[in-house]
Amino acid sequence: MNIDHFATVRNSRGGDQPDPVLAALIAEQAGADGIVVHLREDRRHIRDRDVYLLKQVITTKLDLEMATHEDIIRIACDLKPEMATLVPEKRQELTTEGGLDVVSNLNNIKEANKRLHDAGIKVSLFIEPSMDQIDASLETDADMIEIHTGVFAEHKTEEGKVEELDKIEAAAKYAHDNHLTVNAGHGLDYNNIKLFRTIHTIDEVSIGHSVVARAMFVGIDQAVREMINLIKHGTQ
Ligand code: PXP
Repeated sequence: MNIDHFATVRNSRGGDQPDPVLAALIAEQAGADGIVVHLREDRRHIRDRDVYLLKQVITTKLDLEMATHEDIIRIACDLKPEMATLVPEKRQELTTEGGLDVVSNLNNIKEANKRLHDAGIKVSLFIEPSMDQIDASLETDADMIEIHTGVFAEHKTEEGKVEELDKIEAAAKYAHDNHLTVNAGHGLDYNNIKLFRTIHTIDEVSIGHSVVARAMFVGIDQAVREMINLIKHGTQ
């Protein structure tokens, strides 16, 4: 469960409510298997205080989404989350746009992976469903990939979605066959998540916006439980 947007609401008033750390604890009690936060260079939502507090109080695992900026790598190595997901980051974007170009940034990512590994952190690379990006990810010694599902989620037609899903499934199989753990995320919601139930090579999904949006109407507990039911049983 990605809790960034609880921090977005908190920061909109400059105060300390709602506390994303409390949201994480409620999400865990509702069954979330892990908590994801993106510590952005501009700290637009999650802040340093949040990540250090989360590390202390959550009981599942912390996935720190991050770019390969020097100060963020230093924080990650000090924080030691269970895993880090490397993402591209642009200052002006509303959310992460597209996957990491591992092919073109091989040395930079290799170096970041090594530093994170030395600190005992597992590394996942957020990439498009592309065999070239998977091959490059293998070269960097990454433990996992997270397949970017944004293109799939944004397709307006069923045919377009199915075509993109086929690409995701083939990429997941290729990565899995090459001993990478495969996660997926971005734009997944209460409707499109059902299509993922048949892809058994995907280990975890990372979901934020749709669950936070639903939580505004039904509460965090119910919103998380409904999503988990859809993932596990195909019914809300
Ligand atoms: N995975 C990654 C790498 C992301 O950057 C995001 C967005 O923060 C998500 C998953 C979750 O996406 P969404 O908020 O659309 O569910």
